[in-house]
Parts: sequence; C-alpha cells; structure tokens
Amino acid sequence: TFKAVIFDLDGVITDTAHYHYLAWKRLAEQVGVPFDEVFNERLKGVDRMGSLNLILSQGRFDLTEEEKVALATQKNTHYQELIAEMTPEDLLPGAVQALDEVRQAGLKIGLASVSRNAFTVLSSLGITEKFDYIVDASTIARGKPDPEIFLKAAAELGVTPEECLGVEDAVAGVASIKSAGMYAVGVGDPQVLTQADRVIPGLQDFSIADFLD
Ligand code: BG6
Ligand code: MG
Repeated sequence: TFKAVIFDLDGVITDTAHYHYLAWKRLAEQVGVPFDEVFNERLKGVDRMGSLNLILSQGRFDLTEEEKVALATQKNTHYQELIAEMTPEDLLPGAVQALDEVRQAGLKIGLASVSRNAFTVLSSLGITEKFDYIVDASTIARGKPDPEIFLKAAAELGVTPEECLGVEDAVAGVASIKSAGMYAVGVGDPQVLTQADRVIPGLQDFSIADFLD
C-alpha cells in the first residue's frame, strides 16, 4: 500500500512548463535552431544544461563551457522575468485539493523538481509548507530520467520506492519514476506519456482513494 506521493512541480502543480517553453523558444530562435511544442516535449523535466545541450544538438555549434553557461543564464534570466509575478492564482486546478487530500489520507508528500527555481515558485504559490520534503535540485548529481531525484525523496520521507506514487507531466519524469521502481501517474496526454501506469488530464482528476484499498 502507498505511503507517500512525490510530485513534480513544473507542469503538474503550476503551469511554469509554459514559461520554460517560452524562455527556451526565445533562446533557440536567437541561436537559429527551429523550436516547437513537439521538440519541447523532449526538454520537459530535463535540467537546465541538459535542455540547452538538447537544443544545441539540433545545430552545428562549437561552444566553450563558458559560452554555454552564458546562454543558460540568459534563458534563466528570461524565465525569472516570466515567473516574477506568480501568485497562488497560478496554481493549476485541483493542485491544492490533491495535496490536502493526500495529507488527510495520512500519506507523506514529497516534491521532486530538478528546477533550481523550485523554492521560489513554491513560495510564490504559497504552498511550501504542504510538503514533508522538497528535494534541493542543487544536491542532485543526475537529472531526470535518472531515478536519483525520486529515490532521494523516498529515502528522505522514510519510505521504500514501492510505497511511492510519483506524479509527472514529462516523458523524462515518468521514466525517472519508473526506473526508481515507483508507480507513475502521468499528467497530460496518454499518447505522449506511454510509460506511465495511469494518465490523468490534470490534478483535478487525481484522487488518492483510487490508489488505496
Ligand atoms: C524542470 C522543467 O522542472 O526544471 C524543465 O520541467 C526545466 O523545463 C528544469 O528546464 C530546470 O529548471 P531551472 O529552473 O533550474 O532552469
Ligand atoms: Mg514537469
């Protein structure tokens, strides 16, 4: 039986996935790489430098590490401008209800986001206190699809991977949950999140009762 639910942040709890998309799109256009929503699916859940490397792999670039860091920083500055005005109104439908329901059912709640802006976003949304444990992305060596981040969350929550439900909107994120040995709830399109055990359109359709017996 499940003892914890570990949530992703961007695209699950709030629509920052769209802001990441806009910020990467601007950068891709600046360096002359074609960019659309389909390609963007490959970036979802992937950390900052990993995302940049995926974009650069679409063109012929010979950049130094310094130049890459400058581009990544530029994207992040733009992203931070986009999220600067976030408030609790930016919570996706059903997000708070889902967190509260999990809490009432007596399960632990974790957050596994590779975003280095996660603490800022959570605080703008006013939901930091709702989590028992939030992984600090800067302490993670390998991003999604590696299982490290979900395994770290489970360990810190004091539960085994089999006792965890992971909730993710990204292909890389679902892969991370599955290779951690957890049950994966995908949020989005079942045609995209083919590795998920179950896919729901959004957290308004999440009910922890469906997973407990
Ligand atoms: C993930 C997003 O949560 O965080 C990715 O899905 C993003 O799109 C990644 O690239 C890293 O975010 P940040 O804020 O550290 O650049
Ligand atoms: Mg996400």
